[in-house]
Amino acid sequence: MNKAVSIKVNGTAHTAEIEPRLLLVHYLRDVLGLTGTHVGCETSICGACTVMLDGQAVKSCTILAIQADGSSVTTIEGLAANGVLHPVQEGFWEKHGLQCGYCTPGMIVAGAQILLRNPHASDDEIRHGLEGNLCRCTGYQNIVAAVKYAAGKINTQAASGD
Ligand code: FES
Ligand code: FES
Repeated sequence: MNKAVSIKVNGTAHTAEIEPRLLLVHYLRDVLGLTGTHVGCETSICGACTVMLDGQAVKSCTILAIQADGSSVTTIEGLAANGVLHPVQEGFWEKHGLQCGYCTPGMIVAGAQILLRNPHASDDEIRHGLEGNLCRCTGYQNIVAAVKYAAGKINTQAASGD
C-alpha cells in the first residue's frame, strides 16, 4: 500500500504517494526527475548517490524515501544559488576534478559536507572525508585539489565578509 510522504527538496516541498520500499535515490530520480544524483552500486559502497539530508551527507541508496518524510534534502541540482556555482562545483571546474563525471555529483556533495564541517580541512582530512566516494577515473588528485580550491574560496569570502 502506498504511503504519502512530504519531503522538501532543494527548497521546494513535494508530497507524493509512494511505495514504502522506494529508495530515496529512486524517489529523487524517478518521482522528482532529479537525475543529477547518480546510482552506482546501490549497496552503499560507491557514494555516487550522495545527497544532503537535513544538512548531513548521506548515501541515498541506503535510505528509504519514507524515512526522509518531513526532512529537507539537497541534491547536486540545489547546490548552486541564484545561478552562482557552489565553491566546490567551481573547484571541480577550475581544477578538472572529473573525467567521466559519474562520481562527480556525489563527490561534490561530499566535498561540500567536508568544508561545512571544517573549512580549513587539510589534504589528509579531505581524502579521509572522501573515503566513502569512489572514482574509477581520476586518481583523486584533482578531486582533492578541487575541494582545496573551494576551501580557499570559502575562507577568502569569510575573511572579506562576503
Ligand atoms: S549507489 Fe549509493 S553508494 Fe553506490
Ligand atoms: S570521474 Fe569517472 S568515476 Fe569519477
